[in-house]
Amino acid sequence: MVAAIRVHKVGGPEVLTYEDIEIGAPGQGQVRVKQHASGVNFIDTYFRMGMYPSPVGLPFVAGNEAAGEVVAVGPGVSDIKVGDRVAYVVALGCYAAERLVAADRVVKLPANISYEQAAGMMLKGMTVEYLLRRTFKVEKGMNVLMHAAAGGVGLILCQWANHLGANVIGTVGSKDKAALAKANGCHHTILYRDEDFVARVKEITDGKLCHVVYDGIGKATFPGSLDCLRPLGMFVSFGSSSGQIDAFNINILQQKGSLFATRPTLNTYAAKREDLLSIAQALFAVVGSGAVKIPINQKYPLRDAAQAHRDLEGRATTGSSILLP
Ligand SMILES: NC(=O)c1ccc[n+]([C@@H]2O[C@H](COP(=O)([O-])OP(=O)(O)OC[C@H]3O[C@@H](n4cnc5c(N)ncnc54)[C@H](OP(=O)(O)O)[C@@H]3O)[C@@H](O)[C@H]2O)c1
Repeated sequence: MVAAIRVHKVGGPEVLTYEDIEIGAPGQGQVRVKQHASGVNFIDTYFRMGMYPSPVGLPFVAGNEAAGEVVAVGPGVSDIKVGDRVAYVVALGCYAAERLVAADRVVKLPANISYEQAAGMMLKGMTVEYLLRRTFKVEKGMNVLMHAAAGGVGLILCQWANHLGANVIGTVGSKDKAALAKANGCHHTILYRDEDFVARVKEITDGKLCHVVYDGIGKATFPGSLDCLRPLGMFVSFGSSSGQIDAFNINILQQKGSLFATRPTLNTYAAKREDLLSIAQALFAVVGSGAVKIPINQKYPLRDAAQAHRDLEGRATTGSSILLP
């Protein structure tokens, strides 16, 4: 038996239940991993509350990102062996001391990346890689707006976009978060709970506006985010931490300057193994070089997963949060 956080019925953080579960031996194409750390992500709350349906029904083990050591290998697995240090992003099952996982979703960790770093960055950092380099290619001198700049995805994106030479503008919920975002590569911060962020973006960019807006907030920042874009700019709606955007008339994109809009997810970008590996390698390279650091600002024992969700949804966290078994 191993410790895990299971959800028996969807709902608030209180449905995250700490209990012992049976894991079993790895089946065809699977490995068994002793997990050293699990990442906490906003997507975990979407599954917990039922906004995203669980692919395995109920009950399910929560969590979508973890890192650990391979302790058993199933039939048909040739490139992963017992003792390998690995990390992965997979739908559910990560809030547990051990788990079975498909070997073709596992990435081997370089020696210079710790388990805790990996648990704090695989989902968020690989997301930043595809957002900045695949969904829209950010180049030197471009104006980039990132909402929730002091969050998990936010702090990584600000550093990486700065490293690419962009002019990084970030919205944040407090003065402390503004200072943190600035210390992590954000050139300009906007207190969007007090200030009109569209007016501030116009001011900061001398009316030139942004080439791209990365919006993980959703309902609360729409359609304002569109007004921060220059003609032909790209609206990247990649999350809904304030709730989902309501259906809208696509003509709004024409009216606001022939804008592009996309709603991407890491699942699509990393669906092929070769893409998963190239996204992960790019992340390992930028972290390994020191250009991007992974601020793990909250650590909780596994049994306190509910508190981790309360803090994340209560806007009380910055950077990455991890659970330790
Ligand atoms: N599509 C993908 O591939 C993908 C992958 C990873 C993450 N995501 C999305 O990226 C976003 C960020 O994820 P994360 O895990 O790094 O979370 P996070 O940004 O660390 O936490 C969410 C932040 O959103 C801000 N926020 C604004 N309105 C909020 C509200 N009503 N309730 C809660 N928070 C609110 C808060 O920052 P302030 O206090 O500064 O406002 C809060 O700290 C999420 O929407 C997530 O779903 C998408």
